[in-house]
Amino acid sequence: MPFRGGPVLGIESSCDETSAAVVADGRVLGHVILSQDAHAVFGGVVPEIAARQHLAHIDGVVARALAEAGVRAGELAGVGVTAGPGLVGALLVGLNWAKGFAYSLGLPIVGVHHMEAHLFANSLESPEATPPFVALLISGGHTMLLHAASWGSYELLGATRDDAVGEAFDKVARRLGLGFPGGPEIERLARQGVAGKYRLPRPMLSAREGPGEAGFFDFSFSGLKTATALLIGEIEAGGEEAIAAARPDVAAEFQEAIVDVLVGKTMRAVDHTGCHRVLLGGGVARNGPLRERLAAALAPAGELFAPSPRLSTDNAAMVARLAEHRLAAGEADGLELNADPALPFPGLS
Ligand code: KG4
Ligand code: ZN
Repeated sequence: MPFRGGPVLGIESSCDETSAAVVADGRVLGHVILSQDAHAVFGGVVPEIAARQHLAHIDGVVARALAEAGVRAGELAGVGVTAGPGLVGALLVGLNWAKGFAYSLGLPIVGVHHMEAHLFANSLESPEATPPFVALLISGGHTMLLHAASWGSYELLGATRDDAVGEAFDKVARRLGLGFPGGPEIERLARQGVAGKYRLPRPMLSAREGPGEAGFFDFSFSGLKTATALLIGEIEAGGEEAIAAARPDVAAEFQEAIVDVLVGKTMRAVDHTGCHRVLLGGGVARNGPLRERLAAALAPAGELFAPSPRLSTDNAAMVARLAEHRLAAGEADGLELNADPALPFPGLS
């Protein structure tokens, strides 16, 4: 069925948020995000539990999003669903639900890439957040620096060579005895501490490299994570009191090291491309010091777009927005659409 315009239902289930949203003309009409708290005791997302929780809640989450939007299922014009990347069992729940729903109502369906959807989160609140732009996509599973000439046409400038930045936050938080997800916990603890009391490395930020060299735009967070764990171990050797007093300073230095690297690499991309408009996307985009430092580095000539906290972490409104964009361009998938845990980013060169 071709898309004739009208409200689009988005479904997101790639990790531990079960979410549904209704978007029309780039505006969110209804949006429900159910964050699974069953993982907290394990200190990370358990894939099998995630899939079961999605299955248990998806009917109710979609029903609530439609009710909030005041849109009946029969009034929808299309369906968008995250097809990857993510946990395969979790993805399959949302994808199969969306396919069955679209088929039963005769609606067009599009499978979207989760990280491209994070990019589109910006346009829900700032319609002017359009290409050309430099984008820093930072989540629990990905760290990518892109240049977008137009929607769907992206040049990959750099990516992480090991851990994603969110993963580094989560692992260091765990080592510090903080809860999951670790990013917000580290940000909170860091407010009570001072960066620079301890010194951690700023990986791959050497001034020796230039744009033509392999590591100029790439990231690496595994060494920083290990250096932080070693530092914590050294302080712990000094006793309970020593580590209790040092935890905020370690968190502050770790966060500062990450922000230095993310801001440094993004400004390299800005200088290299001559493009002064920057978009953030993904859960780590919630980080306050990162936003402040990047906005300051871009001022006065540049502009920074970052979604509000609710739209920075995983949500279905960004999925519905990207789906609406693609459906309007005449794109749709067939019912052979499948989940791909390692789905490549579309339109990359
Ligand atoms: O985009 P997202 O919700 O899920 C993935 O697609 O991975 O990102 C989740 C990640 C987690 O690693 C979490 O620790 C991190 O985003 N995060 C933060 C903050 N809030 C969430 N990292 C740093 N500072 C924050 N305030
Ligand atoms: Zn995400």
